[in-house]
Amino acid sequence: MTSSDPTKPLLRALDGEVLPHAPIWLMRQAGRYLPEYRELRASAPSFLDFCYTPQKAAEVTLQPIRRFGFDAAILFSDILVVPDALGQKVSFETGEGPRLDPISGAHDLAGLRDTLDMGRLAPVLETIDRVRTALPAQTAFIGFCGAPWTVATYMIAGRGTPDQAPARLFAYRQPDVFAMLMARLVEVSAHYLIAQLRAGVDVVQIFDSWAGVLPIAEYEKWCVEPIRAIVQKVRADIPGAKIIAFPRGGGAQLLRVADIDGVAGVGLDTSVEPAWAAKALPATITAQGNLDPLALLAGGAALDEGIDRILSAFAGRPHIFNLGHGILPPTPVEHVEHLVKRVRGG
Ligand code: CP3
Repeated sequence: MTSSDPTKPLLRALDGEVLPHAPIWLMRQAGRYLPEYRELRASAPSFLDFCYTPQKAAEVTLQPIRRFGFDAAILFSDILVVPDALGQKVSFETGEGPRLDPISGAHDLAGLRDTLDMGRLAPVLETIDRVRTALPAQTAFIGFCGAPWTVATYMIAGRGTPDQAPARLFAYRQPDVFAMLMARLVEVSAHYLIAQLRAGVDVVQIFDSWAGVLPIAEYEKWCVEPIRAIVQKVRADIPGAKIIAFPRGGGAQLLRVADIDGVAGVGLDTSVEPAWAAKALPATITAQGNLDPLALLAGGAALDEGIDRILSAFAGRPHIFNLGHGILPPTPVEHVEHLVKRVRGG
């Protein structure tokens, strides 16, 4: 669990090894662009039910591995199972995204649990167990959680918004309540990642998808420090735990996340210049990314040029190939096949 399995290229890359071909996986690789995903998804009454049904969640985790032979499987679940397990009402409306009963002040926060209802999350840990035993020996297994800031933005707004203004306003207007919410999310997220690692994932990724809307004065406090606190807690419990942080949209601020002791890899979003990142990131940090999901959707020259630019920029340093954000539902499966082949030198 903690020492690198020499047969898994992704773990070797996270240990700082430079491999002949960068290992590859894609954010949202289990998803609607796959016909076999859509078919199984249609059999579940709701997205959350789907996430909490181990047999189905394990199956969709494995689908992209069978089809493309990616170097890692990512647990099929969602970052919003954490608010769900804190007792907040969470649902997913088809075509509209997540809906939560918004937290508008101290009273709403007091109505939530202090700790996760692990009974609610038991199916997730069972999914991990099922996937773990079914994965090929060379395939790494990634668990995840949302970073506290990103999860808080959904808990406060009750939905996705273009700029997460509700959470930013909340943090200014009710700083004490906001700090309490963030402290609770740090605790429970660390606990949740530890549970995932104990259940059998090899690596965990912390998604701070909304780091980029934080005002610069708050970046350290609400992006870097909470992630640092989680990393410390996880590694205090599981020494050597491998952790990737993905602070999306923070630009050069990602270097502050890369500096967190215990972070092995940093996810780069589409706005990051690969040649800059290859030089600016510490040599011990593995860069992960960062093809534009729209280039993958478009295919052709845009795709090939995008792939080659990234491969040449990161040649000679530890790198995991990925997208800069999640794969888009209309992406043709053949483009993904082409991507994997090209990254592997074919
Ligand atoms: O990457 C994977 O394949 C693993 C599964 C995974 C999902 N969500 C499945 C999902 C992971 C790692 C996530 C993370 C997640 N969820 C993030 C962080 C990464 C990011 O994309 O920025 C966020 C912000 C969420 C919250 C969330 N979940 C939103 C905003 C939405 C709606 C948008 C959409 O694509 O529909 C979801 C739903 C969701 N999570 C789907 C999937 C496959 C689509 C729902 C469906 O298939 O019915």
